[in-house]
Amino acid sequence: MKQTLTGVPSAAELAELHREHLWLHLTNHKLYETQEPPIMAEGTGYMLKDVQGKEFVDGLSGGVWVVNVGHGRASIADAVSRQMKLLPYYAGSMATPPYIMLAAKLASLLPSLPKVYLSNSGSEANEKAFKMVRQYFAAKSPGKKKYKIIYRDRDYHGTTLAALASSGQQERRADFGPLPEGFAEIPHALCYRCPFGKSYPGCNIDCARALEQVIQQEGEDSVAAVILEPVTAGGGIIPPVPEYYPVLQEICRRYGVLLILDEVVTGFGRTGALFGHQHYDVQPDIITLAKGLASGYMPISATVARKEIFNQFMAGPEEPNGFFRDISTFGGCAGSSVAALENIRIIEEERLTENSALMGAYLMERLKELEAFPIVGNVRGQGLLAGVELVEDKRSKIPLQESRLAQIVASAREDGVIIGRMTRSVPGYNNVLYMAPPLIIDKYGIDRIIGALRSALHKQL
Ligand SMILES: Cc1ncc(COP(=O)(O)O)c(C=O)c1O
Repeated sequence: MKQTLTGVPSAAELAELHREHLWLHLTNHKLYETQEPPIMAEGTGYMLKDVQGKEFVDGLSGGVWVVNVGHGRASIADAVSRQMKLLPYYAGSMATPPYIMLAAKLASLLPSLPKVYLSNSGSEANEKAFKMVRQYFAAKSPGKKKYKIIYRDRDYHGTTLAALASSGQQERRADFGPLPEGFAEIPHALCYRCPFGKSYPGCNIDCARALEQVIQQEGEDSVAAVILEPVTAGGGIIPPVPEYYPVLQEICRRYGVLLILDEVVTGFGRTGALFGHQHYDVQPDIITLAKGLASGYMPISATVARKEIFNQFMAGPEEPNGFFRDISTFGGCAGSSVAALENIRIIEEERLTENSALMGAYLMERLKELEAFPIVGNVRGQGLLAGVELVEDKRSKIPLQESRLAQIVASAREDGVIIGRMTRSVPGYNNVLYMAPPLIIDKYGIDRIIGALRSALHKQL
């Protein structure tokens, strides 16, 4: 039995306080007028327990693919506790040893990107990347106005307004305009619903080539960078085909456009490689990292960049550039940096990336079995990031009604398995169930996920 906090209210009291006070992320609060809100209390490995004592296989690594090393890691808690007693915080222009050590560790993992800026969330890491890119070109070519960022349909880069403006999910942007200008979209890379109506491999990789047209439309002197998720996560689990990045990178180089890869989800073993882009032949100029960086034990994110980009900010104090005034108050907080260091140590020592590749292959094999169901249109993924696209029927590919996806997720939860789904269906787009368990998952855990999913799909026949 784990130690519990003293003075914690009962499950019923917590539910009442939840209804009274919470304004929760990604939540339809109306539901909880008639249902009990789920409240998780503890976790070990890939198992979770809610305040009622019901146990679950965590098929989503803490709800939003974060807890890569699994729950209940005492060594992370101990390392953070030691650091907090030594020095909880110092910021501004003074570093702390953990910040330095984490930067050096990240640089050793990504040697071509040795400059490390720490902040708190994935959104913030992407905002920093945009600011770096804009400042880089402002310093390199004064007066030229090379500032636009191109993003891909279905990708997501965060909740703050510029990060949202660079996100290709109409359903998430719709209610928050006007969004900042200076962002333009290229088509998604999902073969199952090819935006050009073609079939791979005879498609000329038009989805990547579309970048050139967008650069020309926007004005080639004005485009600063492209931002992409190596594998689109929340937009429907979309691993591009192998040729995608080489084609796209060649266009970036030809037009002097920087490439930012958002590894907020795909970083730290999630896809069966330490970083998602390592499945492809591509050399990014900037990478952003967050979720698996400290597996959610502490909030932390990083923007890592090529030295040449950083060097543009080396102007002396008599000519301070804009980036000199940039700060993230809690970015690189000593406790968060220590949590990230210990988290990365665990990933390496326990060979969790290798397990992700191995168990990812097993998960994919088992998910493919579900293609026999008439509503399973397409199964796809990379490592332990998997999606099942559901359709009304396989020929029309009309997306399955969102309410039926909700029933499937609820049925799995009844059976003690947590999986996710797209939060709002988009007409003509995909309706996808998500699975992204902690990287320590084993065959037993995967079999439980498949068993619950199979039973939920049966109920839809
Ligand atoms: C690919 C990607 N980038 C950025 C973000 C934003 O991260 P955060 O919610 O930590 O701001 C997310 C969040 O889900 C994400 O999936």
